[in-house]
Amino acid sequence: MVNRLTLLFVILLAMPAGAIAAGGSQTLMHANNDLTNTASLRRGARNYVNYCQGCHSASFVRYNQLAKDLQLSESQMLENLMFTGDRIFDTMTIAMPADEASAWFGRTPPDLSLTGRSRGADWLYTYLMTFYVDEKSPVGSNNLALPGASMPHVLWELQGLQRAVFRDELDDGGNVHKVFEDFEPVTQGSLTPREYEQFVRDIVNFLAYIGEPVQLKRRAMGGWVLAFLLVFFVLALLLKKEYWSDVR
Ligand code: HEC
Repeated sequence: MVNRLTLLFVILLAMPAGAIAAGGSQTLMHANNDLTNTASLRRGARNYVNYCQGCHSASFVRYNQLAKDLQLSESQMLENLMFTGDRIFDTMTIAMPADEASAWFGRTPPDLSLTGRSRGADWLYTYLMTFYVDEKSPVGSNNLALPGASMPHVLWELQGLQRAVFRDELDDGGNVHKVFEDFEPVTQGSLTPREYEQFVRDIVNFLAYIGEPVQLKRRAMGGWVLAFLLVFFVLALLLKKEYWSDVR
């Protein structure tokens, strides 16, 4: 019985990892983002506004909530994170109408409010790291995490351009598959590879935060909840001892 229970437990533990691994052919890189790092969240917000908000909205996010969570004053928000005409209680929407955007890119750039949750930080990190030159694509680039992506490599000036090297592999049915091998740099970016990784990590951190703003509070509260449970456990134990001392 115990063995069966242990087995079930192990299977349940292993399941999410297996399910994710089966979801994409490309193994995911690790974002290593840290939601408690407010400086990183602030940099991520600035990078997001400068490089992503031209096309993507985050319409569940209000500037005043952002100001509170990132500990920024209203004037800091106005100067660094908001476009002219935006008000502090507005949401992070964009000026480009959806039909215009889809005419440009063939697909409407999706709202990114919840993408941090639906895709996860590691997927987002992999996505922003693995754009590569592809002459056959209408936008001139392709992506390992989202093959055929209609989003251009908007960060190419920072990362530099890279070419993907694939090797052909035969499967059991005799079909040829292209398997990704490595990236080769084509041009240098204005950031070093390390700086670019940090830049992307900050944006991913920001997207993970807006996907569930309350998690900042939840994590802080988690420690207190555990401490309470521990104290309560000791009290309950003492109480039980006290009751049973009379019974025996
Ligand atoms: C020039 C417009 C444009 C800009 C700027 C842009 N994107 Fe996109 N983005 C798109 C389009 C179009 C798609 C849809 C791609 C597809 O599904 O083929 C997309 C898709 C995405 C997706 C995939 C969402 C999903 O779940 O499928 C993510 C994540 C994303 N963008 C993040 C970003 C980030 C982060 C930035 C800023 C660094 C950014 N984008 C800047 C146009 C843009």
